[in-house]
Amino acid sequence: MRRRNPGRAETSTPPAERPRRRALFRSAGVRFALVYAAVFGLSAFVLAVALWYSTLSLLQNQVENAIHNDSQALMEHERLGGLASLETAINDRLASSSDPDGIYLLVDASGAKLMGNLDQWPAGLDQNNVWYELPVARRGVDSVALLKVKALPDGMRLLVGRDMRARLELRNVLRAGLIWAVSLMIALGIGGALLIRSLFRRTIRKISITTSAVARGDITRRVAVSGIGDEFDDLAGAINEMLDRIARLMDGVKQVSNAIAHDLRTPVTRARTRLEDAALHATTKEEMQAAIDRATQDLDGIVAVFEALLRISEIEAGSRRAAFAPLDLAPVLMDLDELYSAVAEEKQIVLRTEVAGPLPVLGDRELIQQAVVNLLDNALKFSAPQTLVVFSAKLADGVVQIVVADRGPGIAEKDLARATERFFRAESARSTAGSGLGLALVMAVAQLHNGTLHLHDNHPGLRAVISIPANRR
Ligand SMILES: Nc1ncnc2c1ncn2[C@@H]1O[C@H](COP(=O)(O)OP(=O)(O)O)[C@@H](O)[C@H]1O
Ligand SMILES: [Mg+2]
Repeated sequence: MRRRNPGRAETSTPPAERPRRRALFRSAGVRFALVYAAVFGLSAFVLAVALWYSTLSLLQNQVENAIHNDSQALMEHERLGGLASLETAINDRLASSSDPDGIYLLVDASGAKLMGNLDQWPAGLDQNNVWYELPVARRGVDSVALLKVKALPDGMRLLVGRDMRARLELRNVLRAGLIWAVSLMIALGIGGALLIRSLFRRTIRKISITTSAVARGDITRRVAVSGIGDEFDDLAGAINEMLDRIARLMDGVKQVSNAIAHDLRTPVTRARTRLEDAALHATTKEEMQAAIDRATQDLDGIVAVFEALLRISEIEAGSRRAAFAPLDLAPVLMDLDELYSAVAEEKQIVLRTEVAGPLPVLGDRELIQQAVVNLLDNALKFSAPQTLVVFSAKLADGVVQIVVADRGPGIAEKDLARATERFFRAESARSTAGSGLGLALVMAVAQLHNGTLHLHDNHPGLRAVISIPANRR
């Protein structure tokens, strides 16, 4: 039932479009359009019916009132002036042309006509003071009349009514008019629906063309944004943002796999060479042991790199968010200060710590600690003796800011953006220990907490700033 007859579809669908068409009711555009048409048609129909009934009942009320007043007036004539007065009044009404639809009939107790403009008492008209709508014959013309009977003394009866033919005709005209109006509205509704469907289709098609191109492998494609700022623009914007992110991630994956291959080959080769060398040339057990120890160290380093990589991936996946808890960072940072004061002293670096608590955040204590450790590590690693490292934290404008600023060589302008990439190490840093994963972890932790990591030039040196939204309770 819901499916379109396939035979008809064959004949009514242009060949070029055939594969793109789908069963009529499976199209969202058609569904929206039909709902629109139904709502539009229904409201038109309700309007027409309401108009129809209010007009007709107005007409009916008018006629009933006229008959009622007329018959009351005639009864009054009879009561005050007797039969003669009543007959005069009826005659006046018949003679005047003020209401050509007026119907009057006065009969005696036997039912014989005394006067009036109706030839005979209509069949079925037997009760007094009740409304009747009956067919009557007036001057030989068949018509319909609204009638009421009033009882008079001596068994006489008075019939007062109005010919309804003109009003029935009016009703027919009204009905025809309303049927036309409703038909026109339904046609307009369907036209509007078709318009909606094609608009809908056109907009959706832009998106589906782009997404299928992306699915086929062209990640550079983006959905065109009309610039109107409507819901479809929002959707297109969201899709484009998603594609940007996917592209960045793919880029990252590519880069990371290259970097892994590149950076790990050296220590693996070195370990291998050492072991091979020892196997060939070691003459004592001690020499052999020393070679194995060094190779084990190399391999431990590789394992550490893999662990760091996995940790960053885990953080980026966001699963650790489930374990977030409200915490005050101030004591956490003070602990780090204690730890790193000793390291700084050893390297003769001045570490100045300015932590103004409390620093409430919702997060993972261990991860934030690790991130700050990475920044402090870098600062102390790249600083020369007798220089200053400032480690500060404060709460401002609902954001907890942790700053580590050193006076070392800093990061060149062109490298600032890449410094947080996995495995990135500036040329000048080649001589220091490290694998280039520290800042990548800091970045991942900041983003996990809906925060940011910004690196600035400290003139000279590097100023790294972690910003995390404060936890408001
Ligand atoms: N405080 C700093 N001063 C100068 N350069 C830095 C500093 N911190 C980071 N960098 C640069 O950014 C690179 C990436 O840092 P990081 O991710 O911590 O890796 P790693 O410390 O293992 O080299 C470093 O190799 C270095 O070139
Ligand atoms: Mg580092």
